[in-house]
Amino acid sequence: MIPARALRPRESVHPVASADDLARAGAEIVLAHARAALDTRGTFHLALAGGSTPRGLYRELARRADASTLAGAHAWFGDERCVAPEHADSNYRMVSESGILACFHARQVHRMRGETPDPEAEAARYERELCAELGPVPRLDLVLLGLGPDGHTLSLFPGTPALEAEGWVTVGRAPLPPVARLSLTLATLEQARALVFLVSGSDKAPALAAALDDSVTPALPARRARPLDGTLLWMVECRPCG
Ligand code: 6PG
Repeated sequence: MIPARALRPRESVHPVASADDLARAGAEIVLAHARAALDTRGTFHLALAGGSTPRGLYRELARRADASTLAGAHAWFGDERCVAPEHADSNYRMVSESGILACFHARQVHRMRGETPDPEAEAARYERELCAELGPVPRLDLVLLGLGPDGHTLSLFPGTPALEAEGWVTVGRAPLPPVARLSLTLATLEQARALVFLVSGSDKAPALAAALDDSVTPALPARRARPLDGTLLWMVECRPCG
């Protein structure tokens, strides 16, 4: 069980019993954030996590939501591998195959162009797109995040320059191919209204424990991901640590 002392203000944990429960509960939480944002501000800016964990949530969301549910919502990408959108490693491909993008107006789906020959230029372009929609200090409503076994999140890997990047979008470098990645920065996560980590699998238990432990130095990227004025939720399907 995660010790309560590990949690910071406005940080909480939602243990779930299975990957299916993570998908169902995660979809409910996304829809709750969407309803609240659309009711109060008439729009909802959601950043999607990559990797494999969120796949079930996206499928569940596609099943439950429709264009009316997410009309006015925008889908952003938290990070992307620098590969073509049809590549097996593409986060866009994983998200697209889940069916969730059909819930958004096409012009409100903001793809990171992983096929770019110039990642730095694409990071700058995506940052301009983000600021064009959200202003000079972009405040996303909800950012979904994964947790890597080494404590990385998005494409912010331990000990890499991307962790200290200024601005809202940067180029990350992964220890495994595809090495070049596009990623939102820690600064963008600090501005968010809500961050939700999706953690599934007992192989994540050590990273989760370390990501909740301030005595671990240097702090893992996942520990450094926190909103300055927002909530942080850990959705954990990870029996030894849930
Ligand atoms: C990526 C993700 C990355 C991912 C973690 C967890 O592009 O791979 O942004 O940060 O969330 O590596 O990946 P899994 O969900 O596949 O375990």
